Amino acid sequence: MSFLSFRYEDHSNFFSEECFKARVKENIDYLEKVQEGEEKYASFLGWHRVDEWAGEEWLKRYESLASEIRKECDTLVVIGVGGSNQAARAVYEALGKKDIEIIWAGNTLSAHSVNKLFEKLEEKKNIYINCIAKNFETLEPGIAFRALRCYLQKKYGEDYNSHIIVTFTENTYSWKMAEEQGYKTLPFPINIPGRFTSLSPVCLFPLSVAGFDIRAMKRGAIEMEHKLKNSTDNPALAYATARTMLKDSGKTVELLSVFEPSLFRFEKWWKQLFGESEGKDGKGLLPMDALYSEDLHSLGQFLQDGSPSVFETFLHIKDPVASFVLGSDGVEDGFSYIEGMDFSYINNMAYEATISAHSKRFPCLIIEIKKMDEETFGSLFYFFQFACYISCLITGVNPFIQDGVEAYKNDMFRMLGKK
Ligand code: PA5
Repeated sequence: MSFLSFRYEDHSNFFSEECFKARVKENIDYLEKVQEGEEKYASFLGWHRVDEWAGEEWLKRYESLASEIRKECDTLVVIGVGGSNQAARAVYEALGKKDIEIIWAGNTLSAHSVNKLFEKLEEKKNIYINCIAKNFETLEPGIAFRALRCYLQKKYGEDYNSHIIVTFTENTYSWKMAEEQGYKTLPFPINIPGRFTSLSPVCLFPLSVAGFDIRAMKRGAIEMEHKLKNSTDNPALAYATARTMLKDSGKTVELLSVFEPSLFRFEKWWKQLFGESEGKDGKGLLPMDALYSEDLHSLGQFLQDGSPSVFETFLHIKDPVASFVLGSDGVEDGFSYIEGMDFSYINNMAYEATISAHSKRFPCLIIEIKKMDEETFGSLFYFFQFACYISCLITGVNPFIQDGVEAYKNDMFRMLGKK
């Protein structure tokens, strides 16, 4: 992974190569703190050493429980919201369904969506559930779990509990409930905030059930861990420095843009990681996402000509993900000049043209990955988590708490009559 580069046709000099290098130098202290892992955040750093929750013993445990379930099931319903489902869902949606389908639940309060979920389940033969929650107070997964338990009880009778695996925090009320009810259990890492759990059972277990190569994911993450922890010529430091410099220069929005729509869920994962970690104490960049080329027809005008609040980070895949060559039907429709070209090539030209146009207006950060596979996702997860930690230190906020989320919850619980 060659990784990070910048494109900017600099008029104002506020983002010159020279300024950037000087800022990287100033930020080396932050890098060293993150490489080491700060003592004051020790209880949040279970993700920092990939082997802590993705070591050989753990992988064997995830794989052995997964293979037990794979013998029986055709569908796994994963119940979870936010950090409890985004990483697994990002990989699943990007790489496509393997042999076992995952259906995602517990991330909405919409009755329409819940009805659609149960309609979908009617077509399935043998269903298992993995309910994932750190606190098990969150409404969406909590009530989806109850609704799905009722469904399983009707479908399987007394044996329904053998279809349930929970990933809960050990020694909590929910953990005891799971043990009493005879569900299978996996520990939710006590020392990782949800949005940093990509290399832990939260993400690796459901992916292993679905048939993904979780060892390749771990390989990618470990390789990235070594790279980021052992060098000052460091892409995570460069990325964190660039984005925080741009914030200091007045930008308020970072747009993560991709030309591969199946990366949509990865963008959502990234948005939560940076939004929840950095957006506090009146600070932080608003993380937003764009799916090109479609969004060029909705956001393109604003980006090229609207208020100068945005800079853009492109996540670009170098190798074509697929191939489809445009043929001919003999109709003169005005598109013959691209006859015989591959959609991948045309998409890539759209990418080059977009960078060329946008970089005349604002700096474009470019993260290039070779191809989309499990190994790459392992690297990307670790890269962004590490870079997010550095960004938060530069910004001066605690990356690992999210008190702000409680405000609406408190009102909602009161309105719903929670004691
Ligand atoms: O990053 C976090 O810890 C949170 O955003 C959680 O992922 C999210 O709130 C879901 O929490 P829970 O797993 O307790 O339902």
